[in-house]
Amino acid sequence: MNDKNEFPELPADCKSQLCKHLSKELFETLKDKETSNGFTLRQAINSGVENIDSGIGVYAGDEESYTTFSGLFDPIIEEYHGFSKEDKHKSNLDPADLNAPNPDPDGDFIVSTRIRVGRNVADLPLGPAISRDQRNDIEHQVSGALNGLTGSLAGTYFPLQGMSEADSTQLIADHFLFKAGDRFLEAAGLNRDWPEGRGIYHNDEKTFLVWVNEEDQLRIISMQMGGDIKEVFTRLSNAISEIEQQVPFSYTEHLGYLTSCPTNLGTAMRASVHIALPKLAADMEVFEKIADQYHLQIRGIHGEHSESEGGVYDISNRRRLGVTEVECVQDMYDGVVAMIAAEKAL
Ligand code: ARG
Repeated sequence: MNDKNEFPELPADCKSQLCKHLSKELFETLKDKETSNGFTLRQAINSGVENIDSGIGVYAGDEESYTTFSGLFDPIIEEYHGFSKEDKHKSNLDPADLNAPNPDPDGDFIVSTRIRVGRNVADLPLGPAISRDQRNDIEHQVSGALNGLTGSLAGTYFPLQGMSEADSTQLIADHFLFKAGDRFLEAAGLNRDWPEGRGIYHNDEKTFLVWVNEEDQLRIISMQMGGDIKEVFTRLSNAISEIEQQVPFSYTEHLGYLTSCPTNLGTAMRASVHIALPKLAADMEVFEKIADQYHLQIRGIHGEHSESEGGVYDISNRRRLGVTEVECVQDMYDGVVAMIAAEKAL
């Protein structure tokens, strides 16, 4: 890391939001500010400075980061979410408002459905600025809440620290384990004290999963095979309200649920299916046109920045802030219906 008082060298061909919005003038006005948790501009931008191929390149250390460094965060939030400084976020997690009968009951196209939200604990710093003790306290509080879940959400918490060979092999086979050593998170300070304080919970049926102290303090995930999107959303919504009774989440009227990465603000929700669309994929232009129309993102099936395999794509909502959770899932659902219709017509 270079001197915090020096404007970082950003190559001219850098395409990230950080490179686009951080002028030397803006840097000068923000460089000596810090939040009450001691989080600085240099920390907020480090991931994008060290990873020039970032799409975004900034992380918040706490709620205050979004106001203290608003000169940088606001234009990025505006561009990513189409959400302005005056806008207010609205939440709606009621499955009754979602219109989503299974679009593929015979299972010809949709392999699986997964919906996740990010959550962070109220009145504590976010991951990039949290202390070791605070992080360990969160693990204690969250794993306690999870271990108290009953019925179909009942399951087991597996701390990464001291995890047995057998547990780790099983969690890797299930694709449940989050990856260690991610360079974007590393440079954001999110891998400090690894693996202490991190862990994974899943229910016995393996349809409900929680990551503890990864990029966000909680990533709450509901998933199952096939295309019953409403069932997946209903399970998620129930799980969130159960956990929220024990663990208060960080939320503001303007930005909704607070997350360390500005792309996840608001609903903090990513609703996705893995879907086989071999014919449509042969014409990427049409495929992308449908995706844009429904505000969707097309990705490979091995996570962010991955390629497709065997014509199977990961389709998810792109908007998260200024739209409700129901709208995020409805976007994804409506787009998937349109994609299946296009695939059938070819
Ligand atoms: N910081 C990375 C970038 O700017 C990831 C951004 C979005 N993804 C995420 N997992 N938060 O490219």
